[in-house]
Amino acid sequence: SGQRYEAETAPAVCQGTIDANHAGHSGSGFCNGNAAVGAYAEFTVNASTAGTATLGLRSAHAASGGTARPASLIVNGATVATVPFEPTGSWTTWATHTLNVPLNAGSNTIRLDPPTAAGLPNIDYLDVSTAGT
Ligand code: GCU
Repeated sequence: SGQRYEAETAPAVCQGTIDANHAGHSGSGFCNGNAAVGAYAEFTVNASTAGTATLGLRSAHAASGGTARPASLIVNGATVATVPFEPTGSWTTWATHTLNVPLNAGSNTIRLDPPTAAGLPNIDYLDVSTAGT
């Protein structure tokens, strides 16, 4: 089954501002993270059973210079991947990164933590799909 978690909707945390000035986002806005190392966005997601879940992370960024804005993907406190977040071409061009992560049964935290001073791309939502019903 699948569930969408909007970056602007609590209990999601955005270390930055919730903005809505770039068309094409889902819901009422997106997370514009602060331009700083460690300025994270975090989602709290529920899984009915433990196991592998497929994440879909939707983002956009078009910063001058075309430099990627990677982020560590931290699940329940453990870094499990780096999401590259290459430029999408414009602030209104939203792209989805798909990857598999382990989740616990019940509540899980999924944090995007940027290691560079540019911070995160704009983050729209996180989709979580699990094998269970
Ligand atoms: C621009 C853009 C913002 C974006 C920011 C950034 O100001 O309008 O939406 O967050 O650049 O570089 O992160």
